[in-house]
Amino acid sequence: MDESQRQAADAILRVMSGETLARALELSGAGATPARAFVQELAYGTLRHWGTLEAIVRALAHKPPGDPRLTAILAVALYQLDHLRAEPHAVVDRAVAAVGDAVRPQAKGLANALLRRYLRERDAVIEAVTATPVGRWSYPRWWISRVRSDWPREWERILSAGNEHAPLTLRANVRVNSREELRDRLRAAGNDCEPVGEAGLIVAPPRPVRELPGYEDGAFSVQDAGAQLAAPLLGARDGERVLDACAAPGGKSTHILERADVDLVALDSDEARLARVRENLARLSLDDRRASVVAGDAAASATWWDGRAFDRILADVPCTASGIVRRHPDVKWRRRASDVAAFAAAQAAMLDALWRCLARGGTLLYATCSVFVEENEAQAAAFAGRTSDALRESCEFPAGVDSSGGQLLPSLPGAPHNQDGFFYARFRKA
Ligand SMILES: C[S@@+](CC[C@H](N)C(=O)[O-])C[C@H]1O[C@@H](n2cnc3c(N)ncnc32)[C@H](O)[C@@H]1O
Repeated sequence: MDESQRQAADAILRVMSGETLARALELSGAGATPARAFVQELAYGTLRHWGTLEAIVRALAHKPPGDPRLTAILAVALYQLDHLRAEPHAVVDRAVAAVGDAVRPQAKGLANALLRRYLRERDAVIEAVTATPVGRWSYPRWWISRVRSDWPREWERILSAGNEHAPLTLRANVRVNSREELRDRLRAAGNDCEPVGEAGLIVAPPRPVRELPGYEDGAFSVQDAGAQLAAPLLGARDGERVLDACAAPGGKSTHILERADVDLVALDSDEARLARVRENLARLSLDDRRASVVAGDAAASATWWDGRAFDRILADVPCTASGIVRRHPDVKWRRRASDVAAFAAAQAAMLDALWRCLARGGTLLYATCSVFVEENEAQAAAFAGRTSDALRESCEFPAGVDSSGGQLLPSLPGAPHNQDGFFYARFRKA
């Protein structure tokens, strides 16, 4: 029996109880099967449109079905019908079988009736459902309200951008090859790719990166174009002592090391994630550079700092990740409204502690992958307000970058600098 719909539905329900989608897919049993890529596509796609799909199920049933597994399997089937242009009767038959198997045999009749009603009355159902904000935008209600009040002019395009597919963006490792050499190598292997930013390439259509030439020999990293702006904004120069305070998995640490011969401390509180920093340093042939990988809490420097001030500090702090939902649609449904203030408080504590580790004249770059003002501009303004020796410097972004102050606005398809939603604020110590 084809288990793809049931496994995707299982992963979705795990996300709703707080699991990350990557882990949820492993736990759902899809990880080891040949249908893994398909289950992944179903789970990602259904979560991207969950607000709409779940509202359709409720509208069809006239009330929420009692069993969440029934809702999840029906939502996966609706995703296939609306977004994958799958053959309707095959989708319905498989979903009905999956409901019988995963919910109970008696629920098969209801599943069959609801999906067939959708096939008959689709336009009217969609019209009714998209009249509500959650049905229209596919985000939790609190999230829509927050983006609306934070971005009164841009809120619709920010929400739309988060529901698009993200491009596959690479960063050439300029210690190994120039961006142009990498582009030629990728094109010779049949990949369409276009430059973005200083060292980036967008590969279309996206492919598993391990299948691209150069991955194993460290010719490139996978990194969004917005994230690729961190190292240039930090501006570390040869010989400087640099701290990457929240470093794992090392995307920005490795970029800093590719651009200059610095003495780098890559700090992170998560030991397991630090293993990935070491792997990336090795794969990119940067492990013979002056980099030390250190486990520690950025908000408690006494536990890991040797007291020698840093010339530059990158504080790429943990955040809601509200700017990268096009890559991680599970984030929309795992977060709670109260998480924003909790992240903001932790970020403020890190900023205050890290500032004490910065040399006079040194630069601290604060970064998040969020679009919420409380974690971004409000955080930066509050820090500048309470820190008398912090001088805020403007962040100059390259031409084509869609920004508002320090906020990179997430891109719609076709943007000249296709980027996730990032925020940067730069401070110099007087
Ligand atoms: C946005 S991610 C960093 C991404 C990384 N800079 C990159 O470009 O690959 C935030 C990181 O902060 C780490 N983190 C969370 N709390 C921390 C703390 N108190 N001190 C240091 N690192 C922390 C997390 O483990 C996570 O790896």
